[in-house]
Amino acid sequence: MSISTALAVPEPGFAALMAARPHLAMDAMAGLLFEGVPLAAIADALGTPVWVYGAATMRGRYHALRAALDAAGLDAGVHYAVKANDHLAVLALFGAEGAGADVVSEGELRRAHAAGIPARRIVFSGVGKTLGEIRLALAEGIAQINIESAEELAMVSAVATAMDRRAPVALRVNPDVDAGTHPKIATGRAGDKFGIPYGDAAALYAHAATLPGIAPVGLAVHIGSQITAMAPYRAAYGRIAELVRSLRAQGLVVARVDCGGGLGIGYRDEPAAAPAAFAGAIRATLGDLGLRLMIEPGRWLVGPAGVLLASVVLVKQARPRRFVVLDAAMNDLLRPALYGAWHGIVPLSAVDAAAPASPAEIAGPVCESGDIFATDRALPPLEAGARVAILDAGAYGAVMSSTYNARPLAPQALVDGDTGAWRTIRVRQSHAELWAGELMPGRVA
Ligand SMILES: Cc1ncc(COP(=O)(O)O)c(C=O)c1O
Repeated sequence: MSISTALAVPEPGFAALMAARPHLAMDAMAGLLFEGVPLAAIADALGTPVWVYGAATMRGRYHALRAALDAAGLDAGVHYAVKANDHLAVLALFGAEGAGADVVSEGELRRAHAAGIPARRIVFSGVGKTLGEIRLALAEGIAQINIESAEELAMVSAVATAMDRRAPVALRVNPDVDAGTHPKIATGRAGDKFGIPYGDAAALYAHAATLPGIAPVGLAVHIGSQITAMAPYRAAYGRIAELVRSLRAQGLVVARVDCGGGLGIGYRDEPAAAPAAFAGAIRATLGDLGLRLMIEPGRWLVGPAGVLLASVVLVKQARPRRFVVLDAAMNDLLRPALYGAWHGIVPLSAVDAAAPASPAEIAGPVCESGDIFATDRALPPLEAGARVAILDAGAYGAVMSSTYNARPLAPQALVDGDTGAWRTIRVRQSHAELWAGELMPGRVA
């Protein structure tokens, strides 16, 4: 759903937000519970702002996706897109469930290793891999490098040849399909920086097969993120299936297709992408080609499984507006400022949640007019000290944080509804850590 369409319908209130999120519940005494754990206890212990993730929710979502792929009879591997949330505990959780990883940098590759995901389950994507990154990936025995251009193919071939290796590569094709998502997260239209133009892909694949350092294993496609309709997927995969058939008709081996990620979640009231529908779209287009398939979901697995807790610093009346200023800001959660993204916001206290709502601007303290989490949002009075949870912040949340305005990175905690326990998984950054590594040379001579 486009942002303009979304704005035309009334916003979901507290009851609707809670009803759509079974991992959350409101207890009259303990307040907002995440997988049964009181969030107030975590805010008390670690302070705010603080990120909280739900292990049982992540595991449940992984298994729902896995089950849908299996039920559709697909031979498919799930490669979690590390960029969505690269915390080691999150990577280790998915790795333990059997997932591989999709990485886009040396840092992500090293994180996946550190979390115990072996290189043979890791795919390397991204438009600008350096020679050093390619060398590292090959030395580690990476499962697949997704090639984004003829220039990158030549780089990988040169590195692999020098290392006396053959690099397993898939060509990432740009299918020229509009995913119908926010322009800043659409990646599959002609003219986007991603992928090899559709019309060039067949010739490049044939060329790849002649290169000494290259073992072309298949094709890859990723058309964008936060995609809730299946038609763009069907269109893109249909084009990839056509390409597979035509390459095979030329005698070329195409064993794998990496179907990318992009499955959308219901931030507001959009219908989230359903695993069964996604698996059905893959089956209908690529299912009868005897391919080893891969998918690279990020947001869908972790987005709903995270919240950002914040406290109200003060309420500024600037009639007719009521600015509720939080201690969390755009440096913590960038999505609203970057994409105009909508996130549900609910009080932690049951008393606050039950109080009559009126319109408020929910702002952060950073010195940017764009540091606004919500505009004209129906919320209860929320006095200074009240606490709120910003919902669906598990994906593209903490990973996109910065220390702008010299604000230390917020701590992170993991609750586990399967055990009823919670743990700190990252401590709050100290102010001294903000400038560790900076030097004061005085007069530079
Ligand atoms: C190549 C690739 N794969 C997977 C993903 C994950 O996307 P999402 O988190 O929307 O599933 C991305 C992110 O845009 C990507 O660029």
